[in-house]
Amino acid sequence: MERLLLAIETSCDETAAAVFDLKPRLEQAGSLLRSEVVSSQVKAHEPYGGVVPELASREHIRNLPLVIEQALGLAHCSMDDVAVVAATRGPGLNGCLLVGLGYAKGLAFASGAALIPVNHLEAHLFASFLMERSLQPLFPCLALLVSGGHTSLVLWSSEAEFQTIASTRDDAAGEAFDKVASLLGFPYPGGPALAAAADEWGERPCGFSFPIGMPDDSSAFSFSGFKTAVLRTVQEVGSLTGGKRGEIAAAVQEGVTDALLKKIEDALAQHGVRSILLTGGVAANRRIRQRVQDCAESRGLRFCAPKPKWCTDNAAMVGAAGLAAYQREPEVYDNWSKSNTQFRLGPYAPFDLSAFPRWSLGEAINENS
Ligand code: KG4
Ligand code: ZN
Repeated sequence: MERLLLAIETSCDETAAAVFDLKPRLEQAGSLLRSEVVSSQVKAHEPYGGVVPELASREHIRNLPLVIEQALGLAHCSMDDVAVVAATRGPGLNGCLLVGLGYAKGLAFASGAALIPVNHLEAHLFASFLMERSLQPLFPCLALLVSGGHTSLVLWSSEAEFQTIASTRDDAAGEAFDKVASLLGFPYPGGPALAAAADEWGERPCGFSFPIGMPDDSSAFSFSGFKTAVLRTVQEVGSLTGGKRGEIAAAVQEGVTDALLKKIEDALAQHGVRSILLTGGVAANRRIRQRVQDCAESRGLRFCAPKPKWCTDNAAMVGAAGLAAYQREPEVYDNWSKSNTQFRLGPYAPFDLSAFPRWSLGEAINENS
């Protein structure tokens, strides 16, 4: 029998599972990864122009058993080999989290495996440990997490120490990309299509520019004013023919990039760090990636970014966060036993815990509240 970790992710519209060899070696997470499967629900939500929570939960119920079975099959193993199940507990859509966490609890209970509840934001950061050693974060690290649901700038001081320096007051960066893309007539989710149009426009001079939200507040991002400014421009321009769409897309991409860079620079002026990490779905954006990398390298800091498939929601990142938890106290999990009351009544009471839809990075949960 082998000793494996099964990771499960269902916080939004991706149903995902991954299998790792269970070793207290976070920095080897990439080579411990045996298999991973991601089933996207984009097609199911497309007609509604955004994620419909109830529909997402139902899709997870339907897909999760198949995705797990496929991941175990690709790793040539079965639940008998799984010693630890790591599952996303929050933040995310409550119904979606309940599906994944409930399934994980059931699997752990039935198989005798231990359960590690994972913070989804932490997981996005730990995705960086799936990369080879020379590309992994050096602490302290300044981490920018930009996705469809989150925009956070985090001071990641050591493996288990997170301090959110800035977060969004309204839309997330990816959400802003998607909403503006929709104004420009790109189908949902429009972020990547908008980015492609902007890249096609390239370095040509651009006749539009859009304001950075909250320029003087280093603790807040804001994209709502930006979105309104684009809407006004689209209305004024009227017809988006003759390259106008690409030109506006280029200005949007530059504006969002400027907004992100401004907060990174503010943070660097206040905190000494050794690396900058860019992660989350928006980290797939070529221009943003390039400018954050230039910003890091011009200061002699290591630039880290997971592969695009590990930037968007996936279970490998949940597994990496699970390996980090395992590495902190392996004896707890190595001595795990279903009959051990410590795990039912103490801090490791996995079968009592519920989903935590609003869970900030580094926030301790009071299980009794
Ligand atoms: O991390 P993710 O897969 O899901 C969330 O947790 O939200 O991020 C998806 C977001 C979407 O808003 C999508 O439009 C955006 O990432 N995105 C991009 C690009 N690729 C994905 N935004 C801008 N440029 C891209 N190339
Ligand atoms: Zn995410």
